[in-house]
Amino acid sequence: MTDIIILLIISYLIGAIPFSLLIGKIFYKVDIREHGSGNIGTTNTFRILGKKAGIMVLVLDILKGAIPVYIAMLMAVDMHVFIPGLVSAIGHVYPVFLKFRGGKAVATGAGAVLAYNPIVFIILLSAFLITLKLSKYVSLSSIVAALTFIGISLLLQDPLIIAFAVILGLVIIIRHISNIKRILNGTESKITFM
Ligand code: G3P
Repeated sequence: MTDIIILLIISYLIGAIPFSLLIGKIFYKVDIREHGSGNIGTTNTFRILGKKAGIMVLVLDILKGAIPVYIAMLMAVDMHVFIPGLVSAIGHVYPVFLKFRGGKAVATGAGAVLAYNPIVFIILLSAFLITLKLSKYVSLSSIVAALTFIGISLLLQDPLIIAFAVILGLVIIIRHISNIKRILNGTESKITFM
């Protein structure tokens, strides 16, 4: 039991590391929260700090979700291995280091899915990319990927996976309410490179 509690605390703390903020402040002297959407995620990092920083944050935020799942697999703990990944995503959204004002759980949640089941990850990535190609909205693509995860979990008919997908999906959708409002009033920014 102690090992599970320690793993969950470590997973939360890993998730809570605000890589975009650290990279912005250390290398660019920019507080990403004061620019663009104000979000401490990959999309806003690409938007404000450019491709190099964006790719770095994308990889690091994916690893934040994936590493706790891999650790759980290696430790063979008596707990579903997805739970530490989910806790890490929650840490990203509610980071203790930033007064619990964090990101939107997309890259970190994706990392957890990637480590748990790469095939599901590829399906979600495809849903994301198709939506992005059609709409040019990263936020809408993230929401569609979250809904696809819930849809897949329902097909798999595993109650635990359904619970994980619904929790992660709801967190992602709730964190995108401001984006949904901007899409509806036509002020959400679109990507230009696809
Ligand atoms: O990953 C978050 C993305 O879906 C939206 O980010 O900065 O446009 O609010 P942003």
